[in-house]
Amino acid sequence: MSQPREQWGTRLGFVLAAAGSAIGLGAVWRLPYVAGTSGGGAFFLIFVAFTLILGTALLIAEFVVGRRTQKPPVPAYKTIAPNTPWFFNGIIGMICAILILSFYSVVGGWIIIYFVRSLGGLASEGTDYGALFGSIISNPWEVGIAHLAFMLITILVVQGGVRKGIERTTNWMMPTLFILFIVIVIRSLTLEGAGEGIAFFLQPDFSAVTGTTILFALGQAFFSLSLGNSVMATYSSYLPKEKSLINSAFSIVVLTIIISLLSGLAIFPGVFAFDIPPDAGPNLIFIVLPAVFEQLALGSLFFTLFMLLLVFATLTSAFSLLEIIVSSVSYKRPDSRGRTAWVVGILIFILGIPSNLSYGLLSDWLIFGNTFFDSIDILTSNFLLPLGALIVSLFLPLKIKKADLRDEVMRGSAMGNGVFLMWFTVIRYIAPVAIIIVFINSLIGLFT
Ligand code: PHE
Repeated sequence: MSQPREQWGTRLGFVLAAAGSAIGLGAVWRLPYVAGTSGGGAFFLIFVAFTLILGTALLIAEFVVGRRTQKPPVPAYKTIAPNTPWFFNGIIGMICAILILSFYSVVGGWIIIYFVRSLGGLASEGTDYGALFGSIISNPWEVGIAHLAFMLITILVVQGGVRKGIERTTNWMMPTLFILFIVIVIRSLTLEGAGEGIAFFLQPDFSAVTGTTILFALGQAFFSLSLGNSVMATYSSYLPKEKSLINSAFSIVVLTIIISLLSGLAIFPGVFAFDIPPDAGPNLIFIVLPAVFEQLALGSLFFTLFMLLLVFATLTSAFSLLEIIVSSVSYKRPDSRGRTAWVVGILIFILGIPSNLSYGLLSDWLIFGNTFFDSIDILTSNFLLPLGALIVSLFLPLKIKKADLRDEVMRGSAMGNGVFLMWFTVIRYIAPVAIIIVFINSLIGLFT
């Protein structure tokens, strides 16, 4: 190999980049609308429980795969378990990352449009934002250009490398995102009538919980921690051997839960204060938020800030989705990284075009009653990600000795052996059983 493989500059840099991958549309766009359609507070609680117990354990598990081998997913699996088919999990991960990025970049494009338009004032007061959103996303040229712009920024950052491209960018985008979020939440909580929204979001009503709610909460937990598609394994493969995996994982999980909570608090008060149905679906933030902000003092400024925050959240996740592919393809020839980023990025852009047209020209093209866009989302979040996570949890205890796992997980951390044993129990028993039960349950749900 011509040059040594890159590494993250600092552990904080790694944590921010991984938190950047985790925090994205999942927490800010998907969570509020899925919670809105699947029972509010009860959904949120189940999601938090899955994230804390299964999410943390599986995040550490993916970290082990990458950090131990210092290789991208497919060669990583091949190194730990030579001559076995386990490496397919790396391939599933790559396919999943390509699919997710293909629709992710579409939404990223919508957000860029809203951000740019909001600079000049989004619309005059009293506009029907549903109609505005419909007209924006059904205009193939505007969404096409924005979609491309989003992809180009992602490519430019990823081609710069792990440290000089991704780490350098997430190092300022993530702190800015946190600050913007706090500003918006304060504004939202001081709305008159905010209480009802907070109650919807935080007071659990378990009578609304069904098997599908649980499957969606599990899918949400995996999606929002970027789990199950080896993205986190890829990021951790650039982490020096002495840095603590478990401490990093806890920081990332806590940051993700805090941001998920903040997004609910930012969005639901407005939804209720202005009598908008909470189950508006994927368009919630594009239709509801402009209507809410329009009524506020300095509303258009807050709206622009919120869109900027979303641009950052989405980009920092897109970096990780492109990185897994670029790192795998250019593994043997690190100097081809730049070219690889361009070729792969443009191909994924092309693959995203049908998703982009899903709400416009192709809106009549339904797969099992869902648009192309929603089908890809459901296929990846609810099926492929949990499947990938299931495979990791079966893989590690079978293929790495317990003592080696302990060393890998606990190195650099002051936590006791009890924490390791808890992790091991979750990975070995609880995670696989829970994922399988949720799967079976949802399959039964599909056929009854
Ligand atoms: N975690 C990202 C989000 O919540 C989505 C994602 C999933 C990114 C899987 C990478 C891998 O928006």
